Amino acid sequence: MRLDKFLAHHLGISRSLANKALKAEMVTVNGQIIKAGAYQLANDDKVTYRDNDIIPVMEKRYFMLHKPQGYVCSTDDPDHATILYFIDEPMAEKLHAAGRLDMDTTGLVLLTDDGQWSHRITSPKHHCQKEYHVTVTAPLDESLVATFAAGIQLKGEKQLTKPAKLIIVDEYHAQLIISEGRYHQVKRMFAAVGNHVQSLHRHRIGNLILDVDEGEYRRLTENEIKSFLS
Ligand code: URA
Repeated sequence: MRLDKFLAHHLGISRSLANKALKAEMVTVNGQIIKAGAYQLANDDKVTYRDNDIIPVMEKRYFMLHKPQGYVCSTDDPDHATILYFIDEPMAEKLHAAGRLDMDTTGLVLLTDDGQWSHRITSPKHHCQKEYHVTVTAPLDESLVATFAAGIQLKGEKQLTKPAKLIIVDEYHAQLIISEGRYHQVKRMFAAVGNHVQSLHRHRIGNLILDVDEGEYRRLTENEIKSFLS
């Protein structure tokens, strides 16, 4: 993370004030005066302001990310680029995705270091809705609406999927709302009815609609965080 951003966050000041403090030689990193706001901090760097240590604030953090294709949601995959590439935060490696997307799926990913909160989103007990925009390779038939509502038998699983709402937009496009998160669930549901998902995008989780551009992320508001706890 940039030093001026770190200072602004931890001292509760604007970035321009942080840069003034840097120019005035009030800030050290590992004992050395640093004047450049763009200085990139490593996780274990020790920062002081006016000779006082700044202890990184470790309150729980909550973000939404618009994931592009080609990134994995697991945060410690040595073979693939991970979604942490987009997250410019101290100790970003402590964050995890509250419900993963496949590498080729785009859209809304929630990131947090609050395990209880993410459980509310991912556990089928809490019925948190996820809305996907789906493009398929074979024409969609209206009869699928009832089939998806009744539950689908996925290969290798004992239990039918929970009732899902399918809205057919046109021959090859649909919206699907599910309240579970089984492995490759959407792709497997369409495969089970003889179709194939060409592209998949998550648009909504609970009441939270994706509202940042691809590759961008933002913090959630207090109300957004609480909306998953009721
Ligand atoms: N279902 C899938 O098949 N893939 C995803 O990425 C998300 C839901």
